[in-house]
Amino acid sequence: MANAINVGLIGAGTVGGGVVDILTTNADVIARRLGCPLRLARVADRNAARLKELDLPDGVAVTDALAVVNDPDVQIVVELIGGSTVAREVTLAAFKAGKHVVTANKALVAAHGEELFAAAKAAGVGYAFEAAVGGGIPILRSVREGFTGDRIKEVLGIINGTANYILTEMTEYGSDFADVLAEAQKLGYAEADPRFDVEGIDTAHKLAILVAMAFGGQVNVDDLYVEGITHITPTDLEYAEVFGCKVKLLAIAKEQDGRIEARVHPTMVPESRLIAQVDGVFNAIAVTGDKVGPTLFYGRGAGALATGSAVVGDLVATARAIRSGGAGAMPPMAFQQEGRRPLVIMPMDEVVSLYYLHFTVVDRPGVLSDLAGVFGRHGISIAKVIQDGQAHGQSVSLVIMTHRAREASVQAAVREIEALAAVTAPTTLIRVEADDE
Ligand code: HSE
Repeated sequence: MANAINVGLIGAGTVGGGVVDILTTNADVIARRLGCPLRLARVADRNAARLKELDLPDGVAVTDALAVVNDPDVQIVVELIGGSTVAREVTLAAFKAGKHVVTANKALVAAHGEELFAAAKAAGVGYAFEAAVGGGIPILRSVREGFTGDRIKEVLGIINGTANYILTEMTEYGSDFADVLAEAQKLGYAEADPRFDVEGIDTAHKLAILVAMAFGGQVNVDDLYVEGITHITPTDLEYAEVFGCKVKLLAIAKEQDGRIEARVHPTMVPESRLIAQVDGVFNAIAVTGDKVGPTLFYGRGAGALATGSAVVGDLVATARAIRSGGAGAMPPMAFQQEGRRPLVIMPMDEVVSLYYLHFTVVDRPGVLSDLAGVFGRHGISIAKVIQDGQAHGQSVSLVIMTHRAREASVQAAVREIEALAAVTAPTTLIRVEADDE
């Protein structure tokens, strides 16, 4: 067998531990696929205790990231530092030292991708980040290499395991949001800062990468509409069930007449759709191409071994490219740099959707007609209405499902309705991804 390809890993946290485990326990099968061993030459972490837990061979563990980057033996650097400051510097230093880089760092790729792609190209090295989106699901490889004959029309995904786990537990057991979040953190799914998971930021980072890769352009993550799940209550999840739906934190991207609709928000999806049946920490991404039609990818979106599996997949692909002399040839974002075009993101106000609206109003004559009047004036057609409770003069839930309506009109109608004296609590608005009946 040929000489080993040497890997240097920086960041021995949850995913780092998964990568070490896979490279150790599956060394034989990896070597048979690659044609040479993939050797873990260096592992760096500032925390010496973490390194000790990994039980590495003598001389492999170091506490300085640059000792990995500057080690002449290391050919591929795995950056698992997270965040976008030190990780960015280390990645640029690795490129400069002629090393290929593999990462799981979605925040870094979403925020500084363009700079890093250019730097990798200038250095003639590879930059791969399969683990950044969908954990163990090889979604980026599929978009980059599988759908190259298609114009991608739509990408729709559950791409944050923590948020999906929380919504699933809340739906199944009527559990409290905070308790379920604490459990997800204990299981090692949540980001260091859980706001990234529950406020949709992590999903937006992943969507930005998917959009750029699927539609062949640059995306500023700040241009995406992002709404998290912190305001979703067990009551809304019960109403969703009444409408035959589940609530999922969806990343949605659609090509509409040359513009891209790109948004992240809790979404009601009919239970009959496969994506509505994706529960717990599992992720799913549905990609529709103009030729291939609809496709669906499903798997674990978080966790040490699933994410580690995606990192090792990138390592093997990079190592194969090194062996064949083609390293750095694969465009990281599927399109050649010069083939990428500016993407126009549709303003959220112009998006058209179905809407679930949960109003809390005083039960007295004329209230329903006042609400209906506001909807009518804004050109919004009501599809279904549920009023729960029969408490004359007391607050009751008035739930409305609309036909297709424009976001700006719905927002204006909600503002107008909330100003009515009969409304006693803030409204819940959840967009619905379903066919209009
Ligand atoms: N916190 C992320 C999630 C980890 O829950 O999906 C994987 O990116």
